[in-house]
Amino acid sequence: MCGPGSHIFVLTKPSSVNPSFMCAVSVVMYSQACLSVQVIEQLGEFEQKALGQQLSQRQAAEAIPRGSELQDPVIVWWSPLTGELGRLGECGPNRCFFTVNKSYHSHPQTKAFLFYGTDFSIESLPLPRHEQHQWALFHEESPKNNYKLFHEPLITLFNHTATFSRRSHLPLTTQHLEGLGALSAQTHLLPLSYKNQLRRTLAPVVYVQSDCDPPSDRDVYVRELMQHIQVDSYGQCLHNKDLPPHLRDSTAMDDHDFYQILAQYKFILAFENAVCDDYITEKLWRPLKLGVVPVYYGAPNVRMWLPDNRSAVVVDPQEPPKKLAQYLKRLDKNDWEYLRYLEWKHKREISNVNLVTELKERPWGVQDIGQDNFIDAFECMVCNRVWENIHRREKKLPSKVWRAEESHLTCPPPKLFEFAVRSSSSPRQIWRASYEQSRREARALGLLIHRNRNFTVTQFWRKVIEGN
Ligand SMILES: *[C@@H]1O[C@H](CO)[C@@H](O)[C@H](O)[C@H]1NC(C)=O
Ligand SMILES: *[C@@H]1O[C@H](CO)[C@@H](O)[C@H](O)[C@H]1NC(C)=O
Ligand SMILES: *[C@@H]1O[C@H](CO)[C@@H](O)[C@H](O)[C@H]1NC(C)=O
Ligand SMILES: *[C@@H]1O[C@H](CO)[C@@H](O)[C@H](O)[C@H]1NC(C)=O
Repeated sequence: MCGPGSHIFVLTKPSSVNPSFMCAVSVVMYSQACLSVQVIEQLGEFEQKALGQQLSQRQAAEAIPRGSELQDPVIVWWSPLTGELGRLGECGPNRCFFTVNKSYHSHPQTKAFLFYGTDFSIESLPLPRHEQHQWALFHEESPKNNYKLFHEPLITLFNHTATFSRRSHLPLTTQHLEGLGALSAQTHLLPLSYKNQLRRTLAPVVYVQSDCDPPSDRDVYVRELMQHIQVDSYGQCLHNKDLPPHLRDSTAMDDHDFYQILAQYKFILAFENAVCDDYITEKLWRPLKLGVVPVYYGAPNVRMWLPDNRSAVVVDPQEPPKKLAQYLKRLDKNDWEYLRYLEWKHKREISNVNLVTELKERPWGVQDIGQDNFIDAFECMVCNRVWENIHRREKKLPSKVWRAEESHLTCPPPKLFEFAVRSSSSPRQIWRASYEQSRREARALGLLIHRNRNFTVTQFWRKVIEGN
């Protein structure tokens, strides 16, 4: 797991910044350890597909004509993400040469650079940027993973985007959901009479979280909630109950036995680590798949994505946790009221047209070897757009212009729950300051990139500290 962004370390003493220290910190950020589990899974799938082709691909890469002989547009990943030194990729009728080899920066056929948000670094950007150089950002992760990108001066530098935002060019909002079938499946659904029996030994609510004190401030809310209703907490945060030894590893989160434990509960606390529209993770989908009612806190617009109006209890951050506890207790005692939240599941009815349409129309699949994964889809979106302009030029038409808008990656500043603002000096205090710092960094970076010249890390930090 990645810690908070490198810039956090700048906060304490902004006037005595040591650029070389910062540099060391951002190198850590750059490491492969920052890849999300989801991306690793998707890459794994990619490798499965490519298995056996790998060697021949490498050989093919060497055989690919170098220099001006290369006919196809070159698209350079400015990130080690795919690890592909060279691959001719087919995107419908179009073909592009994809590579992570940065020495293609100055190649005449290079048309686009692909960036991965989590390892987007201020060091050695592909500058100067030529007129023909399109920039594309792939960022599926939580904002806590690189806040810089979430500000207008940076996000608008990109021509193409794939982010969790429904407004991006290739929205990844449903990236953690396999499909409608998985959502309505009843594999783990337990009868309420059985859940009621289990209530003799189990709490009505379960919480499993090991990433404590993230920007959403969820642990403070849950701690307060626990004063008013019984919660079994199996993770490291607010831990009060142990999992069986074989499930204690964080990789066991998708284990069948773990699902069986969760499925016994009436409610799962599904609290995201950050609060932004469209930022929805498996925390929401898992309880829905299992047939447990999610008590959701995260994307303020989550109702746009729920299978049904009555499929989750959505937390209102303005209300005290005590009030939520009272509501959950009422549902716990009243079978009829509780079951209304599972009616969609029992009937396998997904009434949300927006969700159904999105899942049908997204041009990628999740854990589905019959479909492209979202990384392939992103590469092809850029390849096809590059070709679109090549064809337009051939027809002497003006080039098409794409530009990311602020809404393609946006999140309000992190907020602490008011009932506990002054209660502690825990790491939760850091996020707001981190966000403000990232805003300064984005501005400085925007200015430097617009100058369109190489710059050093020292120049960058000077610009940040100058406040531009
Ligand atoms: C990267 O590309 C350059 C120029 O095409 C080539 O000389 C070099 O060997 C490549 N590097 C790797 C690691 O493949
Ligand atoms: C969900 O609820 C909203 C407001 O309560 C209503 O406008 C909407 O039609 C409902 N949608 C469905 C699918 O029932
Ligand atoms: C890409 O974005 C840059 C910066 O906004 C812009 O100057 C350029 O025209 C865009 N290119 C295309 C093909 O959209
Ligand atoms: C930019 O900086 C890098 C690293 O310092 C250097 O290798 C490269 O040649 C520079 N490019 C230009 C155009 O100055």
